[in-house]
Amino acid sequence: MCGIIGYVGKREVAQVLLDGLSRVEYRGYDSAGIAVLGESGINVIKATGKLANLKSRVGQSRPQGWLGIGHTRWATHGRVTEANAHPHIASGGRVALIHNGIIENYQTLKKKYLADEEFLSETDTEVAAKLLGKMLAREGDLHAAMRATMKELAAGAYAFCAISADQPNQFVVARRSSPLIIGVGEGENFVGSDVPAILPYTNKIIYLEDGESARITPDSVEVFDVNGKPRAAKPKTVNMTLEAAEKSGYEHFMLKEINEQPAVIESTLAGRVSKSGIDLSELGLTAAQLKRIKRIQLIAAGTSHYAALTGKLLIEEFARIPVEAPIASEYSYSNPVIDKDVLAIAISQSGESADTKVAMELAKKNGALTMAISNVMGSSIPRMVDATLYTRAGIEIGVAATKTYMAQLTALTLFAAWLGRKRGEFSATEEKKLVADLKEVPVLMRKLLASKLVGVKRCAARYQNVYNFMYMGRNYNYATAFEGALKLKEISYIHAEGYGAGEMKHGPIALMEGTFPTIMICVDSPIRDKVLSNMREIKARDGVIVAVASEGDEEIKELSDYLIYVPRTREQLSPMMTVVPLQLLAYYTAINRGCDPDQPRNLAKSVTVE
Ligand code: G6P
Repeated sequence: MCGIIGYVGKREVAQVLLDGLSRVEYRGYDSAGIAVLGESGINVIKATGKLANLKSRVGQSRPQGWLGIGHTRWATHGRVTEANAHPHIASGGRVALIHNGIIENYQTLKKKYLADEEFLSETDTEVAAKLLGKMLAREGDLHAAMRATMKELAAGAYAFCAISADQPNQFVVARRSSPLIIGVGEGENFVGSDVPAILPYTNKIIYLEDGESARITPDSVEVFDVNGKPRAAKPKTVNMTLEAAEKSGYEHFMLKEINEQPAVIESTLAGRVSKSGIDLSELGLTAAQLKRIKRIQLIAAGTSHYAALTGKLLIEEFARIPVEAPIASEYSYSNPVIDKDVLAIAISQSGESADTKVAMELAKKNGALTMAISNVMGSSIPRMVDATLYTRAGIEIGVAATKTYMAQLTALTLFAAWLGRKRGEFSATEEKKLVADLKEVPVLMRKLLASKLVGVKRCAARYQNVYNFMYMGRNYNYATAFEGALKLKEISYIHAEGYGAGEMKHGPIALMEGTFPTIMICVDSPIRDKVLSNMREIKARDGVIVAVASEGDEEIKELSDYLIYVPRTREQLSPMMTVVPLQLLAYYTAINRGCDPDQPRNLAKSVTVE
């Protein structure tokens, strides 16, 4: 949430900033801005809307200089206006600051220190900028001023990047709770909200920890610990490629990412499954630790929460351990029962969601064994837990999660079976059979994707103008219904609700009439007949049914207005298959409605504020 880039060196600064911002735009696109420091002082350019607007404003008359910072905003405090866009300035334009996060005590600070200042925006960030300006006047040094400012920011989260015309050869950064990384180059240095921002220039990364700050010049990076004392920080080399950040002939990243899902399953399985079964020794969890687990909590937000709901069923079935799957933002403030016998697993593709991070801090504080399932190496949540199982989906650019969800389902299946084996609840034969079935999923999914899913396109064309959609499923496809509904509302802005099909008679059946569409997931499973009964109940009220069913299921034909077949798999793995047409339905509906599926309004890929 909010993309950050900073650069000092000999390249064309504005170009590096705009280029970097284009790779972190998925973090927010309400507005964007840059500040470049050159001979004429600090030159700030901002524009509301997507980055393209800023690019055209910067145009040919690019500000020249040797140092600069850039920002894409996801609005928290203050509307989407140019005045509220970052960078914010202080000290008569001699200081500029960008920020990702929320300063919760900004009103208090404003009253206490800044009563004499004139504010141009409604943001908490401008308060931080003006405070930094004040501290700079007092301390006479930008880094000292940043440390003094940090002391005042009692509550909230921040990743800051600041420049001052009075110390023109450096920028200063600081973070608490919001992510920030430093890229080390030769005769040049970078800062970014995440690695892709700076990856074309360097893969040598310093990860700043909470409460740390740094002073960065073209030739040096000085890192200061939580107490403001210098700490030696050696850059780590990251193995990430930017290939994934190209559309490779697809019209949108989302479509490309949906089509990458078979390969994503294979790479998440690679090296972890063999003839002898599943090997997750990479987790480094000891037999004693595994034995001790009495309860598991799968903590997540958004799409990752729906993966968690499926993970709960998998773990309970394969490992026979009770699992809760709370929404991260509810868990943290509900006084959950946590002790040393709990394994708390954060599921977070970005590894940065503030809600999930705060929840994991609570779990950790209360003595739980902690683990993460994440797609981003070195991100905040994996760095705070005892063990991480990385999904290997590659960088996901589309804001609506697709291939990372698939990777999470794969990882959770592996983990559930592995844990079951370790605890003697899952036999070697069952494990072998599961591995064989898992390996078959990408093969079948490729066939499904190659079939072009004509029924999905027809359905998207038919229902693109409705106001409401219902998605229903049961057991393993209960969560799929929620994920399908989430995809549709996220990118096409049609209201859609997920529901357990068995629960329909307790309320939603009141909605059923001639024009109301329900997506019903009804694949092979022990409760297929019960789902068929639920469909009959809808049909008895003249409701419209789009069924997602197992290939060759004839019986379902007469109950559905549209029928989308998916290849047969065992029920536990069917969510991997059934979600694909639902992702595509959302995609084509968005396209038909003229919506941008890669950058839906008001959303951000990585939400680093509570
Ligand atoms: C945001 C994104 C969602 C994502 C959720 C959790 O809301 O828009 O797509 O599912 O955050 O993100 P995480 O990175 O923790 O999985």
